[in-house]
Amino acid sequence: MNNFIFQNATKVYFGKGCVKEYLSCLTKNAHTVLLAYGGGSIKRNGVYDEVTGILKAAGKTIVEFSGIMPNPTYAKVQEGAKLAQDKQVDMILAVGGGSAMDCCKAVSLAARYDGDIWNDYWARPGVIDFEPLPLGVIVTVAGTGSECNGGAVITNEEKKIKTGRDYPQLNPHFALMDPTYTYSVPVKQMVSGGFDILSHIMETYFSEPNEDNVSDDIMEALMKSVIRNLRAAIKNPEDYTARSNLMWNSTMAENRIIKMGKRCDFECHNMEHQLGAYTNCNHGCGLGVLHPVYYRHIYKSGLSKFVKFAENVWGIVRDGKTDEELAMAGIDALAAFIKEAGLPTTLKELGAKREELKEIADSCGISQGSYKPMTHEEILEIFQECYE
Ligand code: NZQ
Ligand code: ZN
Repeated sequence: MNNFIFQNATKVYFGKGCVKEYLSCLTKNAHTVLLAYGGGSIKRNGVYDEVTGILKAAGKTIVEFSGIMPNPTYAKVQEGAKLAQDKQVDMILAVGGGSAMDCCKAVSLAARYDGDIWNDYWARPGVIDFEPLPLGVIVTVAGTGSECNGGAVITNEEKKIKTGRDYPQLNPHFALMDPTYTYSVPVKQMVSGGFDILSHIMETYFSEPNEDNVSDDIMEALMKSVIRNLRAAIKNPEDYTARSNLMWNSTMAENRIIKMGKRCDFECHNMEHQLGAYTNCNHGCGLGVLHPVYYRHIYKSGLSKFVKFAENVWGIVRDGKTDEELAMAGIDALAAFIKEAGLPTTLKELGAKREELKEIADSCGISQGSYKPMTHEEILEIFQECYE
């Protein structure tokens, strides 16, 4: 294992009824709460009424910050920060998925910062030497794991850059996670979020070290759990066991635990984020298109791990296969699962334009944690291979 320091500042309240039970206590020190959410799903499924009912009964002044879009923009962050400053809010409560949570992490920083947070904290890593506005989250969709990390992925539309930074100071103070809140997530989004979870685990698993380490063992168990529970939730969206497992898988994949001692890759995320910057595609769907193609490009450089993936995650038996054949069988099983789940398999379906592929490829970050660090030329090859 490589050396590491571990800390996670978010306190999690998990399970059916947790919002009703804990929200008023968790907001007791706040007078004015910025209630932040997306395009309105919380109004349709009753979550908005439940949350505002609790806040009103506790005597809070509620300032609404709505319309946070999937792939939140820097302009939206600036709007939220201005509102938080003008209304002198003393706590942010983000209700939603990765987009609402990420946007609010950036708002919590921008509301207490005079300069330009894009330039100073997203364009390059910065140092947070002040207290951001306190943030709590209520998770309504499983996928990003944003509730238990300091990561916030923001799109700068002017510059055509979608990028994430992870600042421990931006970890939410608390996360309320009621799996029944995810029942109303449309199947397409549930599958996309499920694949995002799997992607976070694979991006970590497929990286050094290759020798025996706890993180890889935990990840094999998590990957099997995601695959099993996503299948169950597709069959029955109100399967509480499946929804709660997926919700916790999502947190486990991104609460830093599995990254301990690992180099981490995240090249598929680098590629997907730039595809998102150009096409505004759905995050999990973009990842579904890229993963199998990317792995066919790199598996020879991480062969022993790809063999373990085939055997331990997909249960493929060697049966006379060479290491390379076994590794490829694992990648094929992944590709078959993506199809079975109904995710898109081409960039064309995501709305990418062929003539823009080179510009997008050239804008992608290069991960040094990959078994085989990419060049921009090879990223373009990958894009072309999965275009249609
Ligand atoms: O906006 P509303 O109306 O709420 O609808 C949302 C949205 O359309 C809907 N939804 C959420 N909960 C629902 C629901 N619909 C019905 N019932 C519910 N209970 O789902 C749609 C997608 O929501 P969004 O928050 O955009 O999805 P997700 O959680 O996948 O977040 C995606 C964003 O997070 C970033 C992505 O790049 C993308 O910008 N990521 C954040 C990460 C992090 N902070 O750690 C890591 C990830 O790798 C990822 O990059
Ligand atoms: Zn992701």
